[in-house]
Amino acid sequence: MRIAWSAAREANRLNWDDRAPLHEEAYDAHRFAADPDASHVDHDLAVLGQHLPGGTIAGLDVLHLQCHIGTDTISLARRGARVTGIDFSPASLEVAARLAREASVEVTWVESDALAARSALRGDFDVVFTSVGALVWLSDLELWAEQIAALLRPGGVFYVRDGHPMLYALDESGEPLTVRNRYFANGAAQMWDDAGTYVGDGTTEHTRTYEWPHSLSEIIGSLLRAGLRLERFDEGQTLPWRWSPIMVPTDEGWVLPDHLRDKVPCEFTLVAVKP
Ligand SMILES: C[S@@+](CC[C@H](N)C(=O)[O-])C[C@H]1O[C@@H](n2cnc3c(N)ncnc32)[C@H](O)[C@@H]1O
Repeated sequence: MRIAWSAAREANRLNWDDRAPLHEEAYDAHRFAADPDASHVDHDLAVLGQHLPGGTIAGLDVLHLQCHIGTDTISLARRGARVTGIDFSPASLEVAARLAREASVEVTWVESDALAARSALRGDFDVVFTSVGALVWLSDLELWAEQIAALLRPGGVFYVRDGHPMLYALDESGEPLTVRNRYFANGAAQMWDDAGTYVGDGTTEHTRTYEWPHSLSEIIGSLLRAGLRLERFDEGQTLPWRWSPIMVPTDEGWVLPDHLRDKVPCEFTLVAVKP
């Protein structure tokens, strides 16, 4: 459906504000905060580190876009980075700030639309980091990529791991997996009306959300058009959340059952550099 970005964004923000306390509980976030060795980004840093001059984010200025309740952000700070987390949901940032205090790590939290991140922040960054579940909430990837390019220092690195657009085109309700949603964007939003969230049994009050499909060519192309150079692109079979009831848990995360695992990609990882 066609909807103004401001109206869609406000509906989404209300929904994310509702989800923040539900996720705080369902993720056992206070136990995470209390354990100085707990990390949600080991997998990401193993990849990202290969593209950083010293192999580590320690001592670097890192921006985490769409940081939600800050578990990944705090994990990055625990590895010695100076981290800024940005999100448009004040309730998410409230939880994030509380968790950072409990974890005794310093993080700068900024409330802003990801599509206006450049003007919301001072200075520039060695690394811009984005983790799973982020891109579908943004209507305009050209604008998104321009923010990233403008936020990075020359030589700075952009890292994103997110759900695979082909997976998002499928109906998650069960087998057989059939194509239900657009793969290619046409500017229209997909509206959902669902009180549940992707972890735990809690329900939201603001149930209506809007998402935008983005094909791989749109994601990669937007970053190239913004002037970044592609360094790495991978596709994977694991997700950190249960996208469909048919998924099964493993030590690395949720995967599709054996007979589907080689047929459908679940996530992608991309690394790009600002020349
Ligand atoms: C699935 S969560 C991301 C979780 C993340 N991977 C983490 O580190 O926990 C999506 C986040 O995007 C945020 N978000 C959605 N639309 C946004 C926008 N236009 N600007 C900024 N943040 C946005 C939501 O508030 C939510 O916190």
